[in-house]
Amino acid sequence: MTSSNRTPNTLRQIVILGVGGTIAASAASATQTHDYKLTGTLDTVLEQVPQLGEIANIRSEQVVNVASHEVDNAVLLRLASRVNEHLADPAVDGVVITHGTDTLEETTYFLHLVVKIAKPVVVTGAMRPSSALSADGPLNLYNAVRVAISEDAAGMGVLVVLDERVVSARDATKTHTSATDAFRGPDSVELGALSGGRVRFAASPLRRHTCDTSFDLAAVQALPQVDIVYGYQNAGTHFFRAAIEAGARGIVFAATGNGSLSEAAKAGVLMARERGVAVVRSSRVAAGAVSECADDACYHTIAADTLNPPKARILLMLGLAHGMDTTALRRAFEIY
Ligand code: SIN
Repeated sequence: MTSSNRTPNTLRQIVILGVGGTIAASAASATQTHDYKLTGTLDTVLEQVPQLGEIANIRSEQVVNVASHEVDNAVLLRLASRVNEHLADPAVDGVVITHGTDTLEETTYFLHLVVKIAKPVVVTGAMRPSSALSADGPLNLYNAVRVAISEDAAGMGVLVVLDERVVSARDATKTHTSATDAFRGPDSVELGALSGGRVRFAASPLRRHTCDTSFDLAAVQALPQVDIVYGYQNAGTHFFRAAIEAGARGIVFAATGNGSLSEAAKAGVLMARERGVAVVRSSRVAAGAVSECADDACYHTIAADTLNPPKARILLMLGLAHGMDTTALRRAFEIY
């Protein structure tokens, strides 16, 4: 497919939004790649990549500056609104976001479902702090902008770019705690790759996203509480009870295997359903789908398909925020 090499006088306008994360962090020495602190900002990240000015006209905005395990629903709503506002500006060709990698898969899937314009949105981060030997952040950011200026990136939904891979936000999953190629789809699905300074797309996302979803944040003031309960040997019902008592309107059960419900989990699900709490069966297994089964009819549960528990939580929150009942939620898990 084509690359995007515009002449300097027709450079595309890209807005870079900073959320924080390791890309803006530093450690005590160049050989320390763990135990670092968020010391920088988007501006300090941009100073490391002056080459961006050769491929795009850049505007930047620090939306928040946090480690991504601090990203909450309020940050998600604020970020989505900034993305939609920037993309609505006819002068803006695309948005790039720098974000911590720990929960990047949740933020990106959220944006994938609620961004309402087909212009490119690309999210990147870093697995090594900016102070490290072979820090990966600067090249990841450069490549993210490369993808954002590519005509082929429009209409692809939100894209995750790290380590020269392009992965759909629906599939992008952190699969390693420290390796620079940590982001993949659960079944190694990639949309494209960067090589020789060019982006080459080989596939496009099949599930509905951005303009083709029924989600519209204009009507959403706050997202409902949805919790994740983990399945394991000897588990009781107490985490279900705790989530319900804490006000959850939805629970994602990170079940064993293909979404299996133990007897205790069935009791927990019944407790939830009696109180009108929606329950999605996802899996703690890294790859493969959770398929619909007889338990769904008995317990009114919803199969997560190929969404892992954190991504299933995002879709369930959005579905509940839009008043979806069990039937509508089941459909949402099939099409998004
Ligand atoms: C974070 O998610 O903010 C820390 C880890 C990282 O960015 O790699």
